[in-house]
Amino acid sequence: MKVTLPVIIKGTGSYAPEGVLTNDDFASYLDTTDEWIMQRTGIKTRHKAGEGESTSTIAAKAARRAIENAGMEPGDIDLIILCTASPDVPIPSTSCILQSELGISGVPCFDIAAACSGLIYGMVVGGNMISSGAYNNVLVVGAEVLTRFCDYEDRTTCILFGDGAGAVVLSRSPDPERGFLYTHLGADGDKWDYIWVPAGGSREPASTRTVNERLHFVRMRGRDVYKMAVVKMQNLIDTALTECGITADDLTMIFSHQSNRRIIESVRERLNLPEDKMAVNIDEFGNTSAASIGLALDHVRRRNRLKEGDLVLFAAFGAGVTWGAIVARL
Ligand code: UT7
Repeated sequence: MKVTLPVIIKGTGSYAPEGVLTNDDFASYLDTTDEWIMQRTGIKTRHKAGEGESTSTIAAKAARRAIENAGMEPGDIDLIILCTASPDVPIPSTSCILQSELGISGVPCFDIAAACSGLIYGMVVGGNMISSGAYNNVLVVGAEVLTRFCDYEDRTTCILFGDGAGAVVLSRSPDPERGFLYTHLGADGDKWDYIWVPAGGSREPASTRTVNERLHFVRMRGRDVYKMAVVKMQNLIDTALTECGITADDLTMIFSHQSNRRIIESVRERLNLPEDKMAVNIDEFGNTSAASIGLALDHVRRRNRLKEGDLVLFAAFGAGVTWGAIVARL
């Protein structure tokens, strides 16, 4: 098992807005129940950004915590990658607003729009930027305020999504045994309309009609996505383990995207893993898309459940459709 990208996760940070929506909040005005939502998704609550909060503001909070956790100052960061499907505005990239919030003008920054696979895309791109020798400390943030893109009259989607941010600082590995052992990214653009926001872009600009028809909100072919996600997540993990020549028992923990507790459970049961080896935060946060893996990673690290040298696997699947996986020796 060789390190293919000599990059380590030097620090992590996360943030979720204080506002919380419970299942009963939805049941109070929609044809749904706490029981249905719990059984079908595993979600109990999700966080909701308040007035004055947006993707860049919550990204900045997670980013500051990650930079501090890495023992650095914002000025030590030489590249910012912000992964989001819910940008502050169409122009400019939200990473520029984040860069301004962090007070590090001059540092290059860009957004990655890979939805739920965003943080994995960001870590692979950031890792390669370090490996090329061009950068030393890359800040990768997955941040979403998806509640602003939810149709609160559509019970099939609004109960799923929540707001949050998870950040990592990637740095050059000081040890040839530590780093990313395996990375894989993929996409199937033929399924671009399985999860999408129909209007507000160049294809269908905002107009009174698009607003009246509620086209600025997320639409999802839930059942189709669910079936694809179960198979894809299992294949992603199987392939990663085979390519690394390891078994699930060698892993300290798996961080998979949190879209539905049943999907996470299906992966866990197939790998025959104990419950505490699969990070789960969907009960509290719902589906936070690009933020979910960063949020989970930060919470686990801060509970001292990971140590240097541990082997972990990250895997995600989402809109696009996109997917990605990383096996890392911490
Ligand atoms: O993060 C990106 C990737 N996203 C995902 O992976 C999400 C994947 N999809 C899912 O997690 C699930 O498909 C959902 C949670 C969205 C839906 O669960 P499901 O078991 O696939 O339900 P379904 O769509 O097959 O719907 C079953 C029934 C339908 O009623 P009928 O047609 O059988 O009468 C829905 O209208 O459940 C109904 N339903 C609801 N009932 C109560 C859908 N949403 C709700 C709701 N409360 N909130």
